[in-house]
Amino acid sequence: MKILSQLFLLVVLIPSLCNGEGNERHSIDNSHSGIADLSPELRNLLSQEMLHLQKGMMEILPLYVSGRWAEIGPIASKMENSYILKKSLTEKQMHELHSKLPSGFIGLDQQFHYLSGMLEHAAEMEKPELIGFYYSKMGEICVSCHTQHATHRFPALVPKTKVHGH
Ligand code: HEC
Repeated sequence: MKILSQLFLLVVLIPSLCNGEGNERHSIDNSHSGIADLSPELRNLLSQEMLHLQKGMMEILPLYVSGRWAEIGPIASKMENSYILKKSLTEKQMHELHSKLPSGFIGLDQQFHYLSGMLEHAAEMEKPELIGFYYSKMGEICVSCHTQHATHRFPALVPKTKVHGH
């Protein structure tokens, strides 16, 4: 009975595993495999960091529109420093991250940190135009990374590349 159900599982699972391999490698959403391969601990950390980033973005908007520049800097700085790739991970986890994450992911992550650092400076200098500029650039990077690496989580971001013939 036990063997039977294990066999059944195999029969059910194997085609779906093969499918994933074959199809996704060539489709737009091929990059999600690297994320899915992360150990549950790292994936959990990534998810937590994402929620922190989102919280930071949501906190900044009302400060920005009401001119409370001084309160923006510390939030931007926290976003810059708290991100998973900058966390004190063990050497093994670091290695895992770098070997499993798609290479474009790390580049986007670096851009994100550059922008949050710039937002912090803009806030310190009390320059609303620059604060607005870097804030919107940060939002663009969220979307850009999700479009490339997280459409499994945000299916609405799958690029619409269908040809319409005109
Ligand atoms: C370098 C790539 C990258 C950047 C930059 C990025 N994200 Fe994400 N985000 C991801 C990936 C990958 C996932 C899916 C994680 C998973 O499936 O475990 C994700 C998931 C999320 C989630 C869902 C978390 C959950 O588990 O519920 C939120 C919310 C989120 N991101 C917000 C943001 C916001 C806000 C920004 C910008 C301020 C941002 N992300 C920037 C890659 C990125």
